[in-house]
Amino acid sequence: MAGLGTSLGSYDLSSPLIGASGTVGSLVDFQEVIEFSFYGAATTKSVSSEPWPGREPPRMAHGDTGMLNGIGIQNPGIEAWVLSHADTFASIPTDVWGSVVAHDIDGFAEVANRMAEAGVDAIEVNLSCPNLDGRPFAFDPKLSADIVNAVGQATQLPIGAKLSSDAQPISAVAAAVQGAGADWVVVANTVMGARIDPESRRPALSGLIGGYSGAPIRPIAIRSVLEIAMDLPELPIVGCGGVSDAAHVVEFLLAGASAVAIGSAHFKTPRVAKSITRDLNRYLKRHGISSVTELIGAYEPW
Ligand SMILES: Cc1cc2nc3c(=O)[nH]c(=O)nc-3n(C[C@H](O)[C@H](O)[C@H](O)COP(=O)(O)O)c2cc1C
Repeated sequence: MAGLGTSLGSYDLSSPLIGASGTVGSLVDFQEVIEFSFYGAATTKSVSSEPWPGREPPRMAHGDTGMLNGIGIQNPGIEAWVLSHADTFASIPTDVWGSVVAHDIDGFAEVANRMAEAGVDAIEVNLSCPNLDGRPFAFDPKLSADIVNAVGQATQLPIGAKLSSDAQPISAVAAAVQGAGADWVVVANTVMGARIDPESRRPALSGLIGGYSGAPIRPIAIRSVLEIAMDLPELPIVGCGGVSDAAHVVEFLLAGASAVAIGSAHFKTPRVAKSITRDLNRYLKRHGISSVTELIGAYEPW
């Protein structure tokens, strides 16, 4: 594998950069502002079987150096999504990963099956969504494994399981989904967070608790990647959390990720992948490295 090419097991990527779910729109509507050719893959917003209306405003807020969101995974439901999106994938100049979400196991399987029929290249299972008891699936190794297993029955496509750094220990969930057939893990989704305005006494989000993302969660995501890479060295990892420049990408690779997803940075700099690609190539040249894969897990211990 030369230059920026990498792989997640037997699945090859032309670049280690991945567009993170929910931050690159429904892909086709971001074509004008994001150059998808700089990505190895781009992930759709998560889609459920029935339409989800999302939460009432406010559902986005500043979180000091990061951002808070409590969108509630608003989406039109799989049938409307297939009708409006399936024939747009061919125009996206990179692989399309379909992000699947549901409140129960059958829902995950159904959406994965429909997305596969619609022509996505891989399925990303968003385990951070709450189940019917209000607890994220990603906290429960057995439930997470059952979902991945059901998705595996529903499609032949490669499966990435998107985990939560709030799960302790995260390696236990990673091991469970690996055992159930996940081809890689995405590490990780937002960290649960909240804010309250001292003057109005109002929470920043209508849903009170939401997802915290951006620069402040990078060390948390790096810790999660390190733990999984140490405990499960054979399991490919997509690092995700607070990436906005090439140094951050290298940091995730050194921790053990084989690819790195960019999320919130798109809201500030939609074309961020272009400058990251340029700087990543400069980094490789400066260090005499012929392939990014040489960096995977290659941090120097003290
Ligand atoms: C506004 C917004 C919407 C998001 N929607 C989704 C989603 O639908 N599905 C999902 O798996 N992750 C979603 N995420 C999480 C991101 O894909 C990413 O995992 C997280 O933001 C951490 O990366 P970052 O710090 O680079 O943003 C969303 C994040 C944001 C900020």
